[in-house]
Amino acid sequence: MSQTLIKNIKKIYGVSTGPSPFIKGAAMSFTETIENAFILIEGDQIVDVGPMKDSPSIAHQVIDVQGKCVMPAWCDSHTHIVFAQGREGEYVDRLQGKTYEEIAANGGGILNSADKLQQKSEDELYESAKKRLEEVISYGTGAIEIKSGYGLTVESELKMLRVIKRLKQHSLATIKATFLGAHAIPWAYKNNREAYIDLIIQEMLPQVATEGLADYCDVFCDQGFFTVAETDRILKAALQHGLKAKIHANELATSGGVQVGIANNAVSVDHLEAIGQEEIDALKVSDTIPTVLPSCSFFLNIHYAPARKMIDQGLGIAIATDYNPGSSPSGNIPLLMAFACNKMRLLPTEAFNAVTINGAHAMELGDTHGTIGAGKIANLIITKEIPSLDYMVYAFGSQHIDQVILKGVVV
Ligand code: NIG
Ligand code: FE
Repeated sequence: MSQTLIKNIKKIYGVSTGPSPFIKGAAMSFTETIENAFILIEGDQIVDVGPMKDSPSIAHQVIDVQGKCVMPAWCDSHTHIVFAQGREGEYVDRLQGKTYEEIAANGGGILNSADKLQQKSEDELYESAKKRLEEVISYGTGAIEIKSGYGLTVESELKMLRVIKRLKQHSLATIKATFLGAHAIPWAYKNNREAYIDLIIQEMLPQVATEGLADYCDVFCDQGFFTVAETDRILKAALQHGLKAKIHANELATSGGVQVGIANNAVSVDHLEAIGQEEIDALKVSDTIPTVLPSCSFFLNIHYAPARKMIDQGLGIAIATDYNPGSSPSGNIPLLMAFACNKMRLLPTEAFNAVTINGAHAMELGDTHGTIGAGKIANLIITKEIPSLDYMVYAFGSQHIDQVILKGVVV
């Protein structure tokens, strides 16, 4: 099997030689490092990591990275990168004073994206999503969750999920697919929301499951979208088809989304801009991963989730981009880390853990992704010549990434 040796690494961040559990509380401000180090890759896996004095001297391919750092490729556990086109018109409307909810109530927002997506072919959607995926890989992303939810008809939801399946088959990135038929009530069902929920449960979910198109089921449980009772019904139906929950909760209001997610053993509850102590307490006694999305807060100009408080109270968090045309048209994780540090007051190492190992756990990939050690998938970032991880976050907006390796291949 072909071997690649990365040598003279200034510093490796995110080293983990044994099991790599989800990181919580004060432990989030620590990452294991090795200075002046090597990494040996065989096929798609890391087989050895250590200081240069223990380095093997030969391999089929040698990459000398003098002065550069190596990190695990990012694990972005919440995105919507399959969409037809941007919504920059709504952005300008918001700059002129309209709110996200007002735009959605007037047929903009998710329904606008659904109209556009229904008119595109699977091939067109595949090509544009592939470009976005390639772009985020260039920023260092190596594992990514992608949702449907801009179809909102049986045909178009399946079309989106088939696009995600093709991306899974053709990309070196590790991809998880989430069915989000319950993203919004489509126009046609405006006065009969019950019938749309029946459609999700009786037609969409069975077909998604039969074709093996999704790993998870999501619901936008929030004011003006799906209620707690509707969310509960959909998540229970999804579980019967083997789909665990990862949900949108408490973005716009203290909606009960966190609690219904926990009650249904959700892998993660995401957004959390509108949570209080009650939700934090509920999360503390659950295995559900709180995931925060700071670029959504930045872009919608809304509250940031209380990530600092959550970590100080002992919770672990994941951070994801939420890359989508309405609330976060960016999949740039280094920039996201700068938002998390500056606006949520996280430390760079806390943000780093939240987008690597904790993001991996939010996709149930923590055993193989998000850390650097023997037996892990060789998904790695080689930085430019930078002094440290702190510097990468501090000097925000610059491209600090030199090369990305996915499954042992330089991309
Ligand atoms: O995660 N909040 C719900 N869904 C997306 C945004 C959808 C959109 O505006 O297109 C989100 O923010
Ligand atoms: Fe989202």
